[in-house]
Amino acid sequence: MIREELLRIGQTELADTLVRVDPPTRRRLEAQLETLDLDRVGRLVADLVTTDPGHEELADLEPADVVPLGADDPAAIARGEELLREGRVAAVLVAGGQGTRLGFDGPKGAFPVGAVTGRTLFDHHAGRIAAMRERYACELPWYVMTSPQNDEATREIFRENDWFGLSPGSVRLFVQGELPAVDRRTGTILRETPDRIALSPDGHGGLFPALVREGVLDDMRSRGVSTFVTFNVDNPMLSVADPRLLGHHAQAGAEMSNVVVRKHDPRERVGVVAKRADRTVLVEYSDLPDDLARLREPDGGLVFWAGSIAAHAIEREFAERVGAEGGLPYHRALKAVPYVHESGETVTPDQPNAVKFEAFMFDALPMAERAVSVEADRREEFSPIKNAEGPDSPDTARRDLNRLYASWLRAAGVDIATDASGDPGVDIEVDPRFAIDAGDLRRRLPEGYAPTPGEPILLA
Ligand code: UTP
Repeated sequence: MIREELLRIGQTELADTLVRVDPPTRRRLEAQLETLDLDRVGRLVADLVTTDPGHEELADLEPADVVPLGADDPAAIARGEELLREGRVAAVLVAGGQGTRLGFDGPKGAFPVGAVTGRTLFDHHAGRIAAMRERYACELPWYVMTSPQNDEATREIFRENDWFGLSPGSVRLFVQGELPAVDRRTGTILRETPDRIALSPDGHGGLFPALVREGVLDDMRSRGVSTFVTFNVDNPMLSVADPRLLGHHAQAGAEMSNVVVRKHDPRERVGVVAKRADRTVLVEYSDLPDDLARLREPDGGLVFWAGSIAAHAIEREFAERVGAEGGLPYHRALKAVPYVHESGETVTPDQPNAVKFEAFMFDALPMAERAVSVEADRREEFSPIKNAEGPDSPDTARRDLNRLYASWLRAAGVDIATDASGDPGVDIEVDPRFAIDAGDLRRRLPEGYAPTPGEPILLA
């Protein structure tokens, strides 16, 4: 049965493998293949592997309209706060990625980010959620998207940590989909072991179908949630459910909004938010032609300066529509994927040999009738942990958090020495349950607080 389906979609090599292997191996492979939408896999191979998908024409790209920093915010913030107080907001963490660049063993959320205590990213985000719940006396349900690859490990971490002090009913984990990796030349589905297909998560854009399939949108509806924010597991700086973002989103009647920061330089590896035919689009850094990336305004600023930090506000009804319409288009990602050769030997390539299929959440932006982009100060909102070292690594995140917390302490009147870049020269950790911004810190610091010079600082 499965063999016929494989033949029908052109997977002759795998169909032959099923005949060749011993019965238990065949049964295990068949059981895995049964969970997949093979028609979709066939279409993806035909569209993205055996034919060249080509490049999109970007000639008509225009800079995005962005709500700049320091815009007229008080009314927007008040509106966002009202949404939070009314219990109409949920938070969705996307944590299904494999974190291959970081190379950490386990879900990335278990990576230590607290400079003093080693607090994990999950704990840090949970603390921010708890703080927002307290500040706005609201439910702010928290949904965490995992993938089949890390779901069990993530659940275990939440259980072991007693849901990080949040009530279990207010946190819900749900699983995104997965797709097979295929040979980049032939489109053959790869096996990672003799009896296992090489499967990987279907990209953060897998969020939309997963929200529908896993009943998350229904759950939101039953809780009275109209808008949700999404955020990445790897950015400890982000203000989750920021009232300013929520407020501008609501005021504009937007269906999907996003947070942008000013790019450091033309080639920085962040997607650029732009406009095309009056719709908001995101162009991946690898797709933005060099001449457009380097284009400058008369004042020297980049024309395409708005780098996306993958933080969104999304209307629940919009997500229902995107999910129901079959989700988002898939892209091809070339990766080095270990595989079992016909001879039975496992090959670990050092060059990309495979195509993985991934959907990107930002592909939903042009589907929105209205989308708002809101600028954030990157020193306060963005320092992702992507790589093991160099830019966007644990070291840069620690440096940026130390600088941020030092600025909060200074704003609270604490005498703390820093160098010209704002670096305090010691590690500082602020438990988000203690403070999520400078105002919190000022209110909560004990009278006359003075850190011991040269010693790490923990405020919890
Ligand atoms: P990245 O694009 O940085 O991917 O994800 P990644 O898998 O974490 O890391 P690399 O590329 O293998 O090094 C951005 C955010 O999207 C989530 C990640 O968990 C992260 O929060 N994500 C990514 C998913 O939830 N599912 C996916 O399939 C991919």
